[in-house]
Amino acid sequence: PRILILGPPGAGKGTQSGRLVEHFDIAHITTGDALRANKGMDISDVHDEYDTPGEIMAAGELVPDEVVTAIVEEALADADGFVLDGYPRNIAQAEALEGMTDLDVVLKLDVSEDELVHRLTGRRIDPETDEVYHVEYDPAEDEEVKERLVQRDDDTEETVVERLRVYEENTAPVVEYYDEKGSLERIDGDRAPEEVWTEIRERVESAV
Ligand code: AP5
Ligand code: ZN
Repeated sequence: PRILILGPPGAGKGTQSGRLVEHFDIAHITTGDALRANKGMDISDVHDEYDTPGEIMAAGELVPDEVVTAIVEEALADADGFVLDGYPRNIAQAEALEGMTDLDVVLKLDVSEDELVHRLTGRRIDPETDEVYHVEYDPAEDEEVKERLVQRDDDTEETVVERLRVYEENTAPVVEYYDEKGSLERIDGDRAPEEVWTEIRERVESAV
């Protein structure tokens, strides 16, 4: 299947994408991970204020469309089935995607704002495996792992607030865009990961 997963920062896009990848044996195309892997890339020629994706992400702003669209274009060329996570983030990107591929299903995870802040500020990453944890919901059991966990640069409270604002301004219209096409499947993401997953799997299976 060709799946798009939408939702605000912290909604569980990465968590649920991991399950989709495993269950359907498809590619995970995620602009956020791709940009984190290329944090120091020189993009000063396409941005007036910042020199690298790392600086833009730490501020909670959007990386220029041409940079992320090139990432997605390249990844799509290699993928048969996929789950796309983190793109499109504005209408221009949604229109660019239209020319690149068809989608079988568009999922949107709904989660309350208080819960998003709680999930993001409590998220921790294992720098050795990239495994994602949460201090309260999903703590690391192993002491050695626990000690090496780090926070994502953009998960500070200040940047989280800005990311949520940028989402409302730029990405909420993308949700409308797909809703108007009649292709949006809303999922209550304010439940345990396992429950959210069960519903996602059913919706995808009935869409393909
Ligand atoms: P990106 O990496 O895409 O971040 P995001 O959209 O802000 O989303 P997150 O990764 O923070 O959250 P998620 O929904 O994946 O949640 P997760 O599953 O990890 O983008 C980062 C930055 O890159 C952007 O700000 C921008 O600068 C740039 N960028 C990326 N794409 C771009 C684009 N297209 N255009 C321009 N710029 C772009 O879960 C979060 C936490 O909650 C975890 O700790 C997890 O364990 C926990 N959790 C998950 N599900 C549940 C649950 N059901 N119950 C309880 N806890 C849960
Ligand atoms: Zn993510």
